Amino acid sequence: MKILVTGGLGFIGSHTSLLLLEEGYDVVILDNLSNSRISTLEKINSLSANKAAFVQGDILDEKIVDKVFSLGNFHGVVHFAALKSVEESQNNPMKYYLNNVAGTLTILKECQKYGVRNFVFSSSASVYGDAESPVSEDTTSGNRLNPYAESKGMCERILNDIAISDNSMRPTILRYFNVIGAHRSGLLGEESTKEFGNIMPYIVKVASGKMDKILVYGNDYNTPDGTGIRDYIHVMDVAKAHVRALEKQREGCQTYNLGTGQGTSVFELIETFEEVSGLKIPYEVAQRRYGDIEVSYSNPAKAMGELGWKAEFDIRDMVRDTWNYEKVRFKY
Ligand code: WQD
Repeated sequence: MKILVTGGLGFIGSHTSLLLLEEGYDVVILDNLSNSRISTLEKINSLSANKAAFVQGDILDEKIVDKVFSLGNFHGVVHFAALKSVEESQNNPMKYYLNNVAGTLTILKECQKYGVRNFVFSSSASVYGDAESPVSEDTTSGNRLNPYAESKGMCERILNDIAISDNSMRPTILRYFNVIGAHRSGLLGEESTKEFGNIMPYIVKVASGKMDKILVYGNDYNTPDGTGIRDYIHVMDVAKAHVRALEKQREGCQTYNLGTGQGTSVFELIETFEEVSGLKIPYEVAQRRYGDIEVSYSNPAKAMGELGWKAEFDIRDMVRDTWNYEKVRFKY
């Protein structure tokens, strides 16, 4: 069966594309290379006997998208392509609503035109806003704080409405918590071409001498050690959930949290990295970052019950594989 993976050369998209190939799917990747590199395609194909096809194009380019679908005969679509910077979305909301919402509508229009019923959507825990953790799929969203999260929430609304009006459409929404880690080979990992302000890439930069310290955004939160708590999840666990979602398509629009259900603080993440790598990670406590919530972690039970999926990697595995990727990439 053939799957279209939009944004398939990105961090989560590349790991999912590889897993789909290993599971025997044929994969066509559509990616505009705005936050990815063509070298990732070679790495994916070097790791799999089954090779992915690639089309460079933007999800807003209706001509290219229609051409891909007309040749595709796709069993399903996994839609990763999106802009993902919280800060950038606050400075340029129009760019985020256009790309993330209109771009998703372009893909959905083609799905309906060509009868592609299975649609797996890359969403985010940020749709919960500042709702109290642990959050379940039916938790009422709190204040979402930024256009990026709002754009994901709008796409979720669209998918639910489409599934209500056309019961042949089978969208699955996957809400990622904080995705880190890398493929065990060290060939695939988080190789963003831009800075998104996320903690893990900064810890890696300090470990590799590219930065002298981490700024810890606040140690005065109402948490055990005062720093922010997040539900970090391994990218391979997230990739596996996408394969399960394609296999277990159910009636209507289904939504699942992709998290471990465990919270890890900033200090705990830094300490885990130091233990695993044997390196010291200097830090300095700074002001809280605007828009950060205090605590975010999932109740992942629904994905276990309905997809038969649960996270297998723990925080040490995530840190180990992240650092291994960096060492392989730069031959430390
Ligand atoms: C994690 C923790 C920070 C950087 C965002 C998006 C989310 C998803 C993942 C797309 C927080 C602290 C961070 C630093 C720090 N992206 N921190 N110093 O903000 O939880 O989630 O990225 O889907 O949608 O919202 O991730 O890694 O930026 O922050 O102390 O230099 O690390 O305060 O507690 P976040 P993050």
